[in-house]
Amino acid sequence: MKKIILAYSGGLDTSVCVKWLNDKGYYVIAAIADLGQKANFKALEKKAISAGAKKVYISDLKKEFVQDFILPALKAEGVYEDYYLATALGRPLIAEEIVKIAHREKADYVAHGCTGKGNDQVRFELSWKILDSSLQVIAPLREWEFKTREEEIEYAKKNNIVLDLKKSVYSIDENLWGVSIECGELEEPWNEPPTDAWQTTASKIVSSPIYLEIYFEKGMPVKLNNKEISFEDLITELNKLGGKFGIGRRDLVEDRIVGIKSRELYEAPAAEILYKAHHDLERLVLDKQTLDFKQLISLKYGEIIYQGLWFCGLKSALDGFIDFTQKRVCGTVKLKLCHGRCEIVGRRSEHSLYKKKLATYGKDSEFDQKAAEGFIKILGMGY
Ligand code: ARG
Repeated sequence: MKKIILAYSGGLDTSVCVKWLNDKGYYVIAAIADLGQKANFKALEKKAISAGAKKVYISDLKKEFVQDFILPALKAEGVYEDYYLATALGRPLIAEEIVKIAHREKADYVAHGCTGKGNDQVRFELSWKILDSSLQVIAPLREWEFKTREEEIEYAKKNNIVLDLKKSVYSIDENLWGVSIECGELEEPWNEPPTDAWQTTASKIVSSPIYLEIYFEKGMPVKLNNKEISFEDLITELNKLGGKFGIGRRDLVEDRIVGIKSRELYEAPAAEILYKAHHDLERLVLDKQTLDFKQLISLKYGEIIYQGLWFCGLKSALDGFIDFTQKRVCGTVKLKLCHGRCEIVGRRSEHSLYKKKLATYGKDSEFDQKAAEGFIKILGMGY
């Protein structure tokens, strides 16, 4: 029998995939990845079995996600069209885990439950192609007969697949780094997002701001308010705190890899706070040339992540540049969380390039203002 490893989320689509693949003669192994999403993994396992999976893997990938995916993205400050890439960062890690499982299980086939219109199919398949091009990919949603959600539900009911039908009208993807929300009323770009679309950030205004201090060591945040904290706990904590203030929301019309525009909401309080803090600290400790060049790198890095090329050689090469720059990124950033935004209100570092003696307008200034005359004269000589 043909063995296949399916990236299983527990939603309607992937549950129907299990049964559909069974019907097509595959021996299905469901692979569930824990990237910090709210989920009852035992219940998901049962659901997969009810749909016909012969075996279920539940992999806790939170540590790798934080250390090997989120951290490099933060150091690079990779963004795509103002999106912090939570979903895009999760996919290559899930793909990599599935390759490991396929090797362990001696399976020749891998499958995902993505549609033919989205980005995630590209991310899974490019990762698989780069990591093991001998694996054969099956994408049931691109070829099956169901045209609507209703047809899928009917098929699921007929086949006794456990369903959670009070599920939201939105399609939601969640992990430690953020939540992505689409479908329903959001498909009309003019519609203001209904309050129930937001999953983790509060709409209610909080009136009194709070202050935070985050300490970075070589580009990695290691202390919150002077206390050491693991990166994973820090993300959880900042999502909670920032979420209360409604920080890190985005309502974006974005350009998908497959060429269409789509509208999506994002919630990523920790990402917003950490990117802002990291960037502010870089502005204090990196020289202008490096800062300018790093902007280009950030743009490219974000694009690579979005386009599903996490495992490409260029990404590793860029990491080399980024890690070199991060040696100086040590210091503390003081932030103020107000409703809907996070302000940077102070920064300090042992590697600071800010020289008060030169910048001050006070009497202790050591800046030789007379020298400016010759400087401008030479600059202007060609005009
Ligand atoms: N547009 C986002 C991306 O490509 C998220 C995709 C998944 N979104 C969702 N609501 N299921 O990374």
